[in-house]
Amino acid sequence: MTGPTAAPAPRYGRVLLKLSGEALMGERQFGIDPEVGRAIADQVHEAHASGIQIAIVVGGGNIFRGLAAAARGIDRATADYMGMLATVMNGLAIQDALEQAGSPTRVMSAIAMNEICEPYIKRRAVRHMEKGRVIVLVAGTGNPYFTTDTAATLRAVEIGAEVILKATRVDGVYDADPELHPDASRYSQIGYTELLSLRLGALDATAVSLAMDNEMPIVVFDMTRPGNIVRAVLGEPIGTLIAGEVTR
Ligand code: GTP
Repeated sequence: MTGPTAAPAPRYGRVLLKLSGEALMGERQFGIDPEVGRAIADQVHEAHASGIQIAIVVGGGNIFRGLAAAARGIDRATADYMGMLATVMNGLAIQDALEQAGSPTRVMSAIAMNEICEPYIKRRAVRHMEKGRVIVLVAGTGNPYFTTDTAATLRAVEIGAEVILKATRVDGVYDADPELHPDASRYSQIGYTELLSLRLGALDATAVSLAMDNEMPIVVFDMTRPGNIVRAVLGEPIGTLIAGEVTR
């Protein structure tokens, strides 16, 4: 029975949290700020302790940006593999921080590196979550030319997550780059096709179209504000919801 003082029931049963690599830097120019890592882990642990199953996909841009390196002349596929390796380092750091916070965690990689972490196997990933473990899915999709946003969408669909929570340094999707245009306005909700046609750049087109085809909602929110990861995982309205307008 729920009385007026009962805590609100979590809206989701299983979520996929996409963490940008850059967000792990905090105020630094490179790498991981341990304070930021701890703050993220504490929030994920708090949300996880409320009974929500959580899968995390992490980017690698704080260590290596494949696209930028390709622009400087490194072969694109090679640069992307270097970026995938960067996500593995971030995943191990998140595992360490989460386990210190109290959430058992398993790192699963799309590229076999069994001495370091488990291989990604969908059924095993789901089992880990059912057994109360947070899973951190690293090395993207294992393929060059795919972003970690696309990896997040693919994994969310595979493991049956109800939503993708894209944690970033911007508090949603804007009609122009808010860092360049201070008068840009934020959408509270936007459809997949509108997002694609406006080329707003919040997510790449491959990720958006995969989400659209599978009716996977995406919430884009600012993870740098204290408490926002918990709010997002608990299903409070936050940032921008990308959903709807599915055309087949
Ligand atoms: P259950 O058996 O389902 O309860 O899962 P478990 O993860 O507790 O047990 P398992 O024996 O599979 O793994 C024990 C530990 O070894 C966990 O920390 C795993 O993450 C880790 N582990 C499992 N497989 C691998 C692997 O292929 N490589 C590495 N490096 N670690 C692994």
